[in-house]
Amino acid sequence: MSDSGASAGKFNLFYVFLGTLFLPITMPLLIINLLKHLKEKRSRNTLPGKVVVITGASSGLGEALAHSFYRAGAKVVLCARRESELERVKKDLMVKHSTNPTYPPVVVPLDLSDLNSLKAAIQKVLDIFGHIDILINNGGISVRADIVSTAMDVDIKVMLVNYFGSVAMTKAVLPSMLKRQSGRIVFVSSVQGKFALPYRSAYSASKHATQAFSDSLRAEVANNGIKVTCISPGYINTSLSLNALTASGEAYGQMDETTAGGTSPETMANDIITSILRDEKDVVLAQMQAKFAYFIRFLCPSLYFKIMERRALKLIQGGKDKKE
Ligand SMILES: NC(=O)c1ccc[n+]([C@@H]2O[C@H](COP(=O)([O-])OP(=O)(O)OC[C@H]3O[C@@H](n4cnc5c(N)ncnc54)[C@H](OP(=O)(O)O)[C@@H]3O)[C@@H](O)[C@H]2O)c1
Ligand SMILES: *[C@@H]1O[C@H](CO)[C@@H](O)[C@H](O)[C@H]1NC(C)=O
Repeated sequence: MSDSGASAGKFNLFYVFLGTLFLPITMPLLIINLLKHLKEKRSRNTLPGKVVVITGASSGLGEALAHSFYRAGAKVVLCARRESELERVKKDLMVKHSTNPTYPPVVVPLDLSDLNSLKAAIQKVLDIFGHIDILINNGGISVRADIVSTAMDVDIKVMLVNYFGSVAMTKAVLPSMLKRQSGRIVFVSSVQGKFALPYRSAYSASKHATQAFSDSLRAEVANNGIKVTCISPGYINTSLSLNALTASGEAYGQMDETTAGGTSPETMANDIITSILRDEKDVVLAQMQAKFAYFIRFLCPSLYFKIMERRALKLIQGGKDKKE
């Protein structure tokens, strides 16, 4: 008893020693975190009345984001292709959060791949609210396909929806934000915007492009009071894999174990709002494994190549064929 007490004492002393040694590092980190937390608390009461446009609001993460922003008192604009699903989400919002100061959600159906139509869609929002505070580029599709058999149409479609769609939406809102010298543009990228996986080439490429675009944009508009946040989530439990395209452009139609085992869309939506309130510029919201892969990609590329080679082999051999 006394023996274990003594060893626990030594153990504690060891940590005190370690803590003191690293204090110059941990102290500033603690202070930065505290400041961020205070900033988040202060800016939380700025959400009521904010005009927030969300693409991909008809399901998954976009739907969860709509709930989080609406609950916080924002004026939400729901965008996606399926109007009936957007109406369902709208009704859901009004029923579930009926006690809040209500700004009825606005439904604006749009197709991100129809680039020339997006300016008119944004104009509809401006006609109603006069301005847009936050644009969330969240709508997107994934792929489950090997490169050699993927039709070029599929590569183009994924790039069109995930990348060019976000670019066109951004360009549509920018003039009005520049006029007010205020606004925020959020990109829902992916950890696959930081490192690529086999059998996801078009998806990873579209997210890498999104990452680059948001970095360029951030610098360009920083002096005009416009903020840019790029979010890179890991797996989220949504219909993304069900809706993913195969090599021939059909819906993959299967729920991947990795996707199903991911973070709940509600948790991810709340983490995204926290990142926005903390004024984060670039955030990875993912499990350790993905963070590790991101780290390795930059620190030791050859190891990352080896790991991905094995992953590709495993997927083929395991008969799991292009999954996960
Ligand atoms: N789930 C994950 O593991 C994960 C991980 C990292 C990042 N993400 C990203 O999170 C975002 C949301 O995806 P999710 O996981 O919530 O998947 P989801 O449930 O399949 O939602 C995708 C949303 O995008 C919309 N969309 C698709 N094509 C569109 C088009 N051509 N025009 C307009 N809207 C379109 C869909 O609505 P309509 O079908 O009604 O158009 C739907 O609302 C995506 O950008 C995805 O890349 C997801
Ligand atoms: C994932 O989402 C589905 C449908 O929303 C749900 O039934 C399931 O329990 C969720 N999985 C996990 C691991 O939370």
